[in-house]
Amino acid sequence: MTRKRPKIGILGSGKGSNMVALHQALQSGQLDAELALVISDVENAGILDRARSSKIPAIFLDPGPFRTKLDEAAETRYVDALISAGVEWVVLAGFMRILKGRFLKTFHHRVINIHPSLLPSFPGLEAWKQALEYGVKYTGCTVHLVDQGIDTGPILWQETVPVLNEDTPDSLHARIQEAEHRIYPQAVQCAIDGRLTVRGRLCLTPTL
Ligand code: GRF
Repeated sequence: MTRKRPKIGILGSGKGSNMVALHQALQSGQLDAELALVISDVENAGILDRARSSKIPAIFLDPGPFRTKLDEAAETRYVDALISAGVEWVVLAGFMRILKGRFLKTFHHRVINIHPSLLPSFPGLEAWKQALEYGVKYTGCTVHLVDQGIDTGPILWQETVPVLNEDTPDSLHARIQEAEHRIYPQAVQCAIDGRLTVRGRLCLTPTL
């Protein structure tokens, strides 16, 4: 009997390069899942265009009145759309709002995010700029489970990226994104395979 492929939903606010990397991994068989739905809180976000041009169901959902979070009604809209699409795992790919309450309860330990730094260094916005300004020699990217904080959830996977003397914010961000596109599909596969053990704030992953 063939195993039912778990359905994932992707939430994003930006250009969607991680969504494209995940979709390519699905197509090549590197990631064994089904991309059931892409949702954006930004009506003209690149992620929606890129999803639609690959025939992936993609919708804009009104995020409500707040700039940095979904209000309760919006959270219900997002949860309902994901559940109607049969989504079991939610993958954030540049989604610029904090998720709380009902959303995280519904998808407990099933919301994954990627952040462009080696957390806990440089949480928040433009982490590559923060790294460059601080003068670190290595930065990277982190895949983590989402909790109620900002970039604070249990860490699942990290990859380092060197910071070069001649780096600009753009060149460093591009190098970090290459690493993101490499590790995100592998990390998502690890999560949906149930190969994670969460103990408090620790997430034990198999040897990578
Ligand atoms: C990525 O750099 C990710 O780390 C951060 O948002 C960015 C999204 O980029 N959370 P994209 O829309 O996937 O290109």
